[in-house]
Amino acid sequence: MADHIHIKSPAEIDAMRAACRLAAKTLKLVSELVKPGVATDEINRFVHEYTLEQGAVPAPLNYKGFPKSVCTSVNDVVCHGIPSKRDILQEGDIINIDVTSILDGFHGDTSRTFLVGEVSDEARRLVETTWECLQRGVAVVRAGARVRDIGAAIQDYAEPRGYGVVREYVGHGIGRVFHEPPQVPHYRAGGANPRLRAGMTFTIEPMINLGTHETELDVEDGWTVRTRDRKLSAQFEHTVLVTEDGVEILTDWDKLED
Ligand code: MF3
Ligand code: CO
Ligand code: CO
Repeated sequence: MADHIHIKSPAEIDAMRAACRLAAKTLKLVSELVKPGVATDEINRFVHEYTLEQGAVPAPLNYKGFPKSVCTSVNDVVCHGIPSKRDILQEGDIINIDVTSILDGFHGDTSRTFLVGEVSDEARRLVETTWECLQRGVAVVRAGARVRDIGAAIQDYAEPRGYGVVREYVGHGIGRVFHEPPQVPHYRAGGANPRLRAGMTFTIEPMINLGTHETELDVEDGWTVRTRDRKLSAQFEHTVLVTEDGVEILTDWDKLED
């Protein structure tokens, strides 16, 4: 059934914990590379090599033809930016790095937006607001709540502050499959609104824009998504587990022991 939401068994949950821990650790380590003068291809190389060293596989590589092992989305790029030797970080940029690791057949998916050196107040506020949007989304997760409660919480925080909430790209169930049901919109969407049950694992990954919520797909590379007005966009992503009394953030890097 295409719309079936898989409830993970205790063994599957343990495997998800391990995959998500690796994705979070990889993201934490690669964040050291974020500084002016670094090419996004160097970020890709680190993620690729570290992932293989850990006995895992970088999920983006060859996923529906994606050519690299991580997504690097700079400034007006909303998501799915392709690392490149020509794409060199500059003081004042913001960059989202989105890591997805496959460990023992299970996916862990997490991203953060980083500041490159000193950035404008406008950019810093956008990034802080987007982080808060993720926290607000995570906070409503518990068994018995509904998927659309998440988007409502995010939209109600972002829009009154003047930001646009991206609609075309959503969070997703995750497990043995990279993108599985349910879809997790970050705004009040119509359509399916399943109840959350303990043992579900999915991502919450709000993309928040300084201006319009509208996006545009790069027709040349078929991947890079930009804001239609070319203003800044930020994103944070966690993979979470629904529990009886709340939520477990599986990609929480503050819980990593070195
Ligand atoms: N990691 C992205 C997500 O959060 C998906 C990237 S697909 C890729 O769902 F092919 F661009 F890597
Ligand atoms: Co995701
Ligand atoms: Co991701």
